Amino acid sequence: SRVAVLMGGLSAEREVSLSSGRECAQALREAGFTVIEVDAGRDIAARLAEIKPDVCFNALHGRWGEDGCVQGMLEWLAIPYTHSGVLASALSMDKTRAKDIYRGVGLPVVESLLAPKAEVMARHVMAPPYVVKPNAEGSSVGVYIVAKDANSPPHLGEEMPEIAMVEEYVPGRELTVSVLGDRALGVTEIHTSGWYDYHAKYAPGGSTHSCPAIIPAEIAKAACDYALRAHRALGCRGLSRSDFRWDDSRGLAGLFILETNTQPGMTPTSLSPEQAAAVGMSFPELCAWIVEDASC
Ligand code: DAL
Ligand code: MG
Repeated sequence: SRVAVLMGGLSAEREVSLSSGRECAQALREAGFTVIEVDAGRDIAARLAEIKPDVCFNALHGRWGEDGCVQGMLEWLAIPYTHSGVLASALSMDKTRAKDIYRGVGLPVVESLLAPKAEVMARHVMAPPYVVKPNAEGSSVGVYIVAKDANSPPHLGEEMPEIAMVEEYVPGRELTVSVLGDRALGVTEIHTSGWYDYHAKYAPGGSTHSCPAIIPAEIAKAACDYALRAHRALGCRGLSRSDFRWDDSRGLAGLFILETNTQPGMTPTSLSPEQAAAVGMSFPELCAWIVEDASC
């Protein structure tokens, strides 16, 4: 069948998406699909009406591509598409609302609040250490960590919207779990010299991963269970990836789910393809699975 790979787009994660899209396009060709690469600009609806693909493979990240917008357009055009639908995408992209859903099904989350940007810059709105991030961005764009001994509140840049999310900082370790359909693929631990920022995510050698993570079986089991429950509670489809912080000095009580990504990165340094490979699924097999799972 003819697959249009949607990539690029209009968000702050445009470059990441171009990388994901190229990788997926190549893998789908290897898997035997006819692939059309589409940079998703403002004319995307007209272009798709012209191309008439059998399926859209969504390789977009961030605003418009991951938040329900492009999904709604594809529903309207009646073109089957991969990954999550409108509602799951919109809920997952909004970190605060996703947390409400997690709480509703009993998953452990850290406290957070939404506050005007000016207020967050004027005073500590929470006792340090804490993290300030946009409520709806990815790839660590615009994330600030305020250390325990920080005297002044953070100076926030232009990428922070008018309302910022402020979240308790959990010391310790960074874990992530991909879910494919009804199965958690396993736990990866991410090791960085600083924190897992944009550079550490995408520069070759910017971070290293242990896949599977070298952690107690009880923690691995809980992380997989939480990711699967998050995926289901949000109503995700196909592939998602949930991110965690684990304060290992507190055992199971130190494990918290931060967010669920409905369009996890598919770049050469990304985590989901590595987790799929660890359970014996090659990258072309993973991309083909995702295409077969598409619907609208
Ligand atoms: N937002 C990036 C693409 C990720 O979660 O992998
Ligand atoms: Mg994210």
